[in-house]
Amino acid sequence: MERRSFIRNGIIAGTSISSYDYKPLENISATKPIMVSTWDFGKYANTEGWKILSANGHALDAIEQAARVTEADESNKTVGYGGYPDRDGRVTLDACIMDESGNCGSVMAMEHIKHPISVARKVMEKTPHIILVGDGALQFALDNGFQKENLLTPDSKKAWEDWLKNSKYEPVINIENQLFKKQDNSFALGGINNHDTIGLLALDAAGKLSGGCTTSGMAFKMHGRVGDSPVIGAGLFVDGEVGAATATGVGEEVIRCVGSHSVVEYMRNGLSPKEACKKVVDRIAKRDLEKAKKMQIGFLALDKSGNVGAYALQKGFSYALKSASEEIVIAVESYFD
Ligand code: GLY
Repeated sequence: MERRSFIRNGIIAGTSISSYDYKPLENISATKPIMVSTWDFGKYANTEGWKILSANGHALDAIEQAARVTEADESNKTVGYGGYPDRDGRVTLDACIMDESGNCGSVMAMEHIKHPISVARKVMEKTPHIILVGDGALQFALDNGFQKENLLTPDSKKAWEDWLKNSKYEPVINIENQLFKKQDNSFALGGINNHDTIGLLALDAAGKLSGGCTTSGMAFKMHGRVGDSPVIGAGLFVDGEVGAATATGVGEEVIRCVGSHSVVEYMRNGLSPKEACKKVVDRIAKRDLEKAKKMQIGFLALDKSGNVGAYALQKGFSYALKSASEEIVIAVESYFD
């Protein structure tokens, strides 16, 4: 009941998406090209990706250019420049990219480079490897013309310094971006938004699929920690014969179930994108219900025909969709209500 009224009223307090319609929760079908990205802020990325898709460009280019919008957004504390640092005050970024033919590239725990998605693409296209990590990824980026930058903004530095006061120097896994009801019955987003990874999926006019995923990872994580986002199969998976999926949320749990690959395999076996996402979320909840209550995980999937679906553990997850006929943010159904 609460959820329905929230959708009808189209509000998520504290965000600036009032000009976007909310749609209900079932699978959505769209004529290609189409682009979907996790969270409300995915709409800004989609706008950039759409410039390429609407000009009959390739999905992979749309994904890279779209992801760069979020990576450059200083106000986003969980992706790219301005992302929260690790517990040592170092901003370390993770990203991966994949096309319909299984070509993929990934960088993990890379510092000082604003656009890890573009470095991941270079790894895919210019090396015989798939993953570069840490200093190796940085060296590769510098060798390929990327600029070394300070990614720790004053805002994020202050948040880290505040965190240090009470942290006992331990990373926290918390519920991200949880929707709660305020005293006046409106809804707001709460908690530290420390897992709001952007995952992006695109189907271009030629029917080619691609995906990308980019994040600064868990806020105040241990130095060297890598989550699901740059792990092919966990944070992202694309299979041109079936569809694509991406994940957001507590990366450790997404890795444990190789989440995005599992979603794609369920679609291969005939489930709709939403059913496939739900199946994996159900498995996570079933494995440890008490643990699942304390975290957020969301999956977003797009099949090769342009059907889209998503499902999350907790309320509050959303995704943005752009096609020729739609530009919407969609509130996602969850396991816990
Ligand atoms: N899903 C992002 C992370 O856990 O790092």
